[in-house]
Amino acid sequence: MKIKTTCRTVLTVILLALWGCGETQSPASTAAASQALINPQHAGASEYAAQCLSCHGAQGIGEASLQAPALTSLDPIYVARQLRHFRDGIRGAHPDDTHGAMMAASSAALSDNSISDLAAYIDALPNVLPPATIKGDLAQGEDYHQNLCSACHGSNALGNVALEAPALAGLNDWYVLSQYEKFRGGLRGSHPEDRWGVQMVRLAPSITDSDVLESIAAYLATLPPEA
Ligand code: HEC
Ligand code: HEC
Repeated sequence: MKIKTTCRTVLTVILLALWGCGETQSPASTAAASQALINPQHAGASEYAAQCLSCHGAQGIGEASLQAPALTSLDPIYVARQLRHFRDGIRGAHPDDTHGAMMAASSAALSDNSISDLAAYIDALPNVLPPATIKGDLAQGEDYHQNLCSACHGSNALGNVALEAPALAGLNDWYVLSQYEKFRGGLRGSHPEDRWGVQMVRLAPSITDSDVLESIAAYLATLPPEA
């Protein structure tokens, strides 16, 4: 009798364990787990408020007067890489890169864990379309984008995760211009460990006409970021 009860208990435990395993691998609970990761109550929220909000704004929509860009449309893998690059002297270390230096200083003390938390928190902020500030020939901008940029950044400029090319839709138009000029001038992407930035450094000399660049930036500013 005693043995039978023990057997039944063991069987129940095994069944419960199997049921439990099935439960944790179901798509519903995987979705719940990833939601937990991007919860705005995430640890990243307080770190963002203390260290980032003053320049990038409470909603991550950026501040033109500080040249601090909107962040909300960026993929968390890209955001985390930029934060590591700023921290590790791969971006923002060129002596002429004044605004990059501001970010390098702001990332200097971030741990890898903080970087993951911050990237997840920024990902959870609602995406916004920043206001257009640059005028240009939209048809010309679209033409250049489709021919020269879309292969990596996507035809709707929503980025390409496999290539780790960021979304350009949802960036400030003035920031697209300033970064393009930094790639062209070697202020960004020329560090030997920057294997993503170097792709832009190679491409950047193909456009030297500032009107064309303004048209591309103006066109990109019309594209909605991913919902
Ligand atoms: C003192 C102002 C300032 C503070 C504080 C600051 N940033 Fe920045 N951030 C900037 C500026 C300016 C740039 C643009 C740098 C450039 O021109 O390359 C930038 C760029 C970035 C980028 C790159 C965006 C892209 O599209 O590549 C990310 C990501 C970022 N900041 C996140 C953060 C986070 C997270 C924090 C808090 C830990 C933070 N920033 C704090 C000013 C600031
Ligand atoms: C061969 C692939 C490739 C092509 C083509 C390309 N890009 Fe990029 N671009 C990248 C990658 C990869 C990055 C990310 C660099 C990094 O991680 O620092 C990037 C970054 C950028 C950034 C910085 C975004 C940010 O958030 O800071 C801008 C602006 C940009 N590209 C504009 C353009 C424009 C405009 C064109 C077309 C004229 C273009 N790119 C064509 C691969 C490409």
